[in-house]
Amino acid sequence: MTQDLASDIAPDRPAPLTNSRKVFIKTYGCQMNVYDSGRMADALAADGYVSTEVMEDADLVLLNTCHIREKAADKVYSALGRLRETKKARAAEGREFMIGVAGCVAQAEGEEISRREPAVDVVIGPQTYHRLPQALQRARTGERVVDTEYALEDKFEHLPDPVKTAGKPRNVTAFLTVQEGCDKFCTFCVVPYTRGSEVSRPLDQIVAEAEKLVANGVRELTLLGQNVNAWHGTAADGSALGLGDLLYRLAEIEGLARLRYTTSHPRDMDDVLVEAHRKLDKLMPYLHLPVQAGSDRILKAMNRRHKAEEYIRLIERIRAARPDIALSGDFIVGFPGETDEDFEATLDLVRRVRYAQAYSFKYSTRPGTPGADLKDQVAEEVKTERLARLQALLLEQQHEFAESCVGKVIDLLLEKPGRMPGQLIGRSPWLQSVNVDAKTSQIGDIIKVRITSTGPNSLFAEVAES
Ligand code: 5AD
Ligand code: SF4
Repeated sequence: MTQDLASDIAPDRPAPLTNSRKVFIKTYGCQMNVYDSGRMADALAADGYVSTEVMEDADLVLLNTCHIREKAADKVYSALGRLRETKKARAAEGREFMIGVAGCVAQAEGEEISRREPAVDVVIGPQTYHRLPQALQRARTGERVVDTEYALEDKFEHLPDPVKTAGKPRNVTAFLTVQEGCDKFCTFCVVPYTRGSEVSRPLDQIVAEAEKLVANGVRELTLLGQNVNAWHGTAADGSALGLGDLLYRLAEIEGLARLRYTTSHPRDMDDVLVEAHRKLDKLMPYLHLPVQAGSDRILKAMNRRHKAEEYIRLIERIRAARPDIALSGDFIVGFPGETDEDFEATLDLVRRVRYAQAYSFKYSTRPGTPGADLKDQVAEEVKTERLARLQALLLEQQHEFAESCVGKVIDLLLEKPGRMPGQLIGRSPWLQSVNVDAKTSQIGDIIKVRITSTGPNSLFAEVAES
């Protein structure tokens, strides 16, 4: 689905009344996994687990895994090897230490994980993690639990409410999954196999979750889905709704200041959604719209179902609706059969679109996908060379975009303490991190700042006289 961000997710939870078990959750991959890790922590909190950010303190380590590229899955097995040693040491002390594997590697490999790494107690898929407490209970009786069936029940109906963060600055931004799975079957991608076919959450369920998050202090919501603009629902009068309509509905929530969504497919950018970028002030001027490649031949082989020119025209329509929109994308270099000429077409497309930022990857063969059976796999050194050229161009555009912000007065949502005392980090409308001098009590406020300079990964600003 979207960009990579590997991070440790260990939301703070109130101390449980009984039981003092601690869980450490390590999250790999995309924002959907970040959201899922939070919900797994909620399910475990209801079972008496406290989250910890210190792995050594944990009684349960849960790896929430990613299967999108080969390297992502390899990381999981090396982490499991290290956890096996910890488990041995704990057993010698007579202390419980359980290991769980969740996420897309769990879904794709299932029992194979327990076979390769017998120290794993529980393997649980993205659709069954509401059953995590029961799975752990079964594992304590000595069973090796693999629960990766697509559950008949809706996991969201069985998860407890997100637990309010205790004693810490509140979360100002939050993810909200509105859609899972994908029916597009791009030939390089495992998502349709690991996350299954496209399922949208019902409107009322999403609105209720959004309202709870806002009541807990959230000001900016990012709607998530592997193919989020395929979201579809039904209005009270029975009429069909799309993501644009959902955004209008959520924008009505008082106290919610900003909306975003990710990741989108160009084919599903309908007129209502494009118009929402013109009409909805709360919808931020930032769009992650992966194109993957700029050559029509490769786009066809990838089964993207659109041409390069159609993508460019779509971008023009979006820019007409929202001229200040910042664009982001995903690219794959070295898809089977990609020639120098095809790759040049990708560079051309990037030059025409001008991205504010982007993610790019070497093609990685995923077993079970149609791409894996294609002849003409591209040599590793060719992929390396193409990736370097593409990334240099994208980086240049990223710097250009950041530089173009210097001198501008913008709305900044103050999010969390900065590195220096007296500093906060906020988010610009274009999703950049911005450092500014402000008080902790201002977290959650939107203030006017003037961008003064750019750093490697963030911007610097001063408070603007209003
Ligand atoms: N190889 C390389 N990159 C891939 N992506 C998805 N599958 C693969 C693969 N097999 C990239 C796409 C997608 C992003 C999340 O990961 O660019 O948009
Ligand atoms: Fe994968 Fe394509 Fe679906 Fe995105 S649209 S999740 S790349 S199959």
